[in-house]
Parts: sequence; C-alpha cells; structure tokens
Amino acid sequence: MNDTQLAQEAGLRRTFAIISHPDAGKTTITEKMLLFGNAIQLAGSVKSKRNDRHATSDWMKMEQERGISVTTSVMQFPYGGRIVNLLDTPGHEDFSEDTYRTLTAVDSALMVIDGAKGVEDRTIKLMEVCRLRTTPILTFINKMDRDVRDPIEVMDEVETVLNIQCAPMTWPIGMGRHFLGVYHLYNDVVHLYTQGQGSHIPEDKRIEGLDSPEVDEVLGEEQAEELRMEVELVRGASHQFDLDAYRRGELTPVYFGTAMGNFGVREMLDGFVEYAPAPQARETDVRDVPADDPRFTGFVFKIQANMDPNHRDRIAFLRVCSGKYDKNMKMRHVRIGKDVKIADALTFMASDRSQVEEAWPGDIIGLHNHGTIQIGDTFTVGEDMRFTGIPHFAPELFKRVRLKDPLKTKALQKGLQQLSEEGATQVFMPMDNNDLILGAVGTLQFDVVAHRLKEEYKVDCIYEAVNVQTARWVYCEDAKMLEEFKRKASTNLAIDGGGYLTYIAPTRVNLQMTQERWPDIRFQPTREH
Ligand code: G4P
Repeated sequence: MNDTQLAQEAGLRRTFAIISHPDAGKTTITEKMLLFGNAIQLAGSVKSKRNDRHATSDWMKMEQERGISVTTSVMQFPYGGRIVNLLDTPGHEDFSEDTYRTLTAVDSALMVIDGAKGVEDRTIKLMEVCRLRTTPILTFINKMDRDVRDPIEVMDEVETVLNIQCAPMTWPIGMGRHFLGVYHLYNDVVHLYTQGQGSHIPEDKRIEGLDSPEVDEVLGEEQAEELRMEVELVRGASHQFDLDAYRRGELTPVYFGTAMGNFGVREMLDGFVEYAPAPQARETDVRDVPADDPRFTGFVFKIQANMDPNHRDRIAFLRVCSGKYDKNMKMRHVRIGKDVKIADALTFMASDRSQVEEAWPGDIIGLHNHGTIQIGDTFTVGEDMRFTGIPHFAPELFKRVRLKDPLKTKALQKGLQQLSEEGATQVFMPMDNNDLILGAVGTLQFDVVAHRLKEEYKVDCIYEAVNVQTARWVYCEDAKMLEEFKRKASTNLAIDGGGYLTYIAPTRVNLQMTQERWPDIRFQPTREH
C-alpha cells in the first residue's frame, strides 16, 4: 500500500446510518439502496434474510416473536463508483443505546421522514445524538405515493423542530394517487414516476429541462404551469444547497420519493455519494487521527453475540479509522496492552458475511471476540491511545436480579459481566450489600438479558423492583474529598460493570440534594467507554 492508494480508497468510502422513527420506511429504503448497489437481486430480501438469521439465532427468537429488530448489521455495497457502508440500527427504542453507539461510527446519517407524519419523537432524539458529533444529515421524505402533508409544511417542521435548515434538492410533483415524479432543482431534470417498479431498478424516465414542451405533454399544460410556479416559489423561499453548511450539520439537503415504489431513491443516492463526507479525522486522547494516516487504527462500537449459533461466537464490530487492515496483521489491543494477530476478521455484505482480506478507513470489520474485547476498545499498530466519544448512557430503569437457584451465583456474575461488556445491560454492585442491580434504557433489554442468561449461561433469574430512579457516574479530582463522600454516601454508591463509581439515586430530588451538598463532585449522566 502507498499513501496515494490509501487516500484514494478512503476517499471512496461513505459510511452512514439511517435515523428515523419506526415505520417511516427505514427497512424499505435499505432494501432499495441495496438493490441499486446490486447487493441483492430482489428488493425485499433484507426482510426475508433477516428472518432467516433470526431463525438460526436462538436469543433472537424472542424479538422475532415480538416482531422487532434488535440487531445492528452492517451492509457494504458499491454505488456510483463509491463504496457505501450502511450501519443498520435497531428500530425499537428500547435498544436505543445500540443506535447511539452506532452513530459514533458513521461519518453521516440519512434521515427518513414519513411525509404524512412529519418529525416524530425518535427522530428528534436521534438528531440530538447526531448533534453531539455534528454529523451531516441528508433527508429523504418518504411515502409521497400517499396523501401526505404539504411538503413545504413538512420542511418547515424539520427546520423548527430539529433546528436545521432545509435545502430541497428534488421537488415532488403531486402526491398520493397523483404522484407523478420529482423535479431535480439543480440538474433541471424531471424524473417521472411509474407505479409497480418497487422490486427492481426502475428505468429512469426523464425529461431534460422544466421548460421543455415535453413536460406540458406529459403533465398536461395546467399542471406543468403549476409545477413551474411552485418551483419558482420554492427556489425563492427555501435555502440553497451549501456543501459546507451540510458538512457542518447546519443544513440538510432534502429529497422526496417513495421507498416502496423505489422512486426518488436513485436521486437521493446520487446526491448522497456525491456530497456525504468520506471518512473523517477522529479524536483520541493523544491526537486527531486523519483517515489517510498510514498507521492502522480503529475502535469497537458494538458487540453482538451468537450471530452464528453453531459457534456461539461473539463479534466485535470495529470501525477502521485510518490505515489499512490486512489479513494476518498484528494489532495492539490498547486497553489490555496486548498485540494480537488477526487472521479471520469478517466483512459484511448485506446479511452475509465472509472473511476479509483487506479493509480501508470507513469500513467495518468483525473481530471474533472471546470475551476480551469491550465496546469502546481501540486497536492500533502499537501506539498507545484511545478513541474518545463513545458514550455510555445512564440507565433510566433499574431492577434487582435474584437467582432461582442460589448455587448459580458464579454463572450469574460471569453472564452479567459479559452481557454488560457487550452493552446489553448495565450492572451495578452496591457498596454496602450483595445485591446485583441491572440498569437499562428500555424495558425490553431486561427480557433479552433474562432470556440470554437462561440460554447461554443456564441461569434462571427473576427481577424485583428496586428503589433506584437514576444513576450518575461520580468523579472528583480531590482524593480526600472522594473518600469522605464514599463514606458518607455509601448507601447510594455502587460499582458498575466497568469498575466505575456510580451514585444510584432513589429519587431525582435525592440526586439534586446530594449534588447541592457536594458541589465539588461531578455527577455525570454519561461515561465514556
Ligand atoms: P421501518 O423500517 O422504518 O420501521 O419501516 P418499514 O420500511 O418497515 O416500513 C413501514 C411500513 O411503511 C411498511 O408497511 C412499508 O411497506 C410501508 N412503506 C415504506 N415506504 C413506503 C412508501 O414509500 N409508501 C407507502 N405507501 N408505504 C411505505 P407495512 O404494512 O407495515 O409492512 P409490509 O407488510 O408492507 O412489509
């Protein structure tokens, strides 16, 4: 590898995730993008493949029964001369921590909005997370084949609720039964919609130029005139696309279409590969690491268990930040200070996986994990540094876990330790008793943990209510004061699964009072891995 090749390969990568509210069409648009990337033959197979995988993966049976998707998978496909890496995220909000962490591994995001519903809760929350790293956002307003809201109104809502400027790139021609296509405001091309093309790549029926008489022929004179006036109005009233403002996360280019009808997706993808940023420099505790730094670096943002139940394996998903991964290379696992030879990293094409020979910045590789890798771990070629900004959120729900068979304590501890390293749950061990308290962001996490403890560790457990309402990680530079705090507040202190001191508050009022009483102690709602 030489530096030019590295810069070139990195420059081709577009690594992103989709943010949306459930049902806005994330799965459908994923299928259509894979179709355009020739990663699947027939649109629709993401769902069926997913189901196959669920069927073979025992703990996921539960989520299948509930009809939700808990997994994060990675899909790589070529498009427009680029290599696109799409990191899928769980749809259900109970697994939002997974989604937040995945968002730390992308360079941009695609926001899918249901044109009838506008901006919904989950989107607001996910947008906040994107803001933490000023992730550039491209927008697709979906379901134009339905009777949706006035597109101007939807864009207004995006601007006011999400506090980001909208620059329409395409403009819809009609909607619902009268949805006829989109007009590309920058290429001056009318793209015509034909129904029933959802399962294959539709032919691009286009008319060059809004003023072309062909537009009048196809739309009818009246509607053609209406469209021209509307376009003039939209041009005057909305923001112009500005690449820098998009890259700074201040403006979002907006595309319209129907994921189900596989229309408008092509224009969005064309814009995406052109404007979305290639792999960006990333912060560590020592220095910023640009993608074209020849020294290999990466970090783990996700650990997934039992992707292949025949091997009971756990896969750590590593985002390559700089340099090149070569099969059989040696890397330093920084947290444990060990050099490891990686011979069997995996790559992901849709939901299939195969061994990878090489990987470049922006790519995701899967490392087999035998319990040593944790979320947030950095890998380098010897340099001692850590990537920062992979957050751990304070849980909002707590339960005490009790064993049905008290002789299984060891197995329970081991199971909880591993599940917390994976990020499936958080464990807190109070300082003044032997309870084990689990913390979660969503209640389904508890069900998954109980299920996995039973299946994987042969431990039957039950949950009990516990008097904890919120948790904060405790930091204090003054060792003496910290000791005093530990003594005086011990009934509300615990050690979490990572060994960090945590204040577990019975009420928010209690937390507030404690914070007031101890102004020099920091109570943090997030902790970095
Ligand atoms: P999600 O992953 O964001 O949760 O959404 P998903 O793609 O599963 O889409 C949610 C529902 O919306 C699906 O209907 C899907 O077919 C529909 N949908 C997605 N895009 C469009 C679109 O452009 N137009 C219209 N009219 N519908 C769309 P469903 O009935 O819940 O599932 P299914 O039986 O169709 O799979």
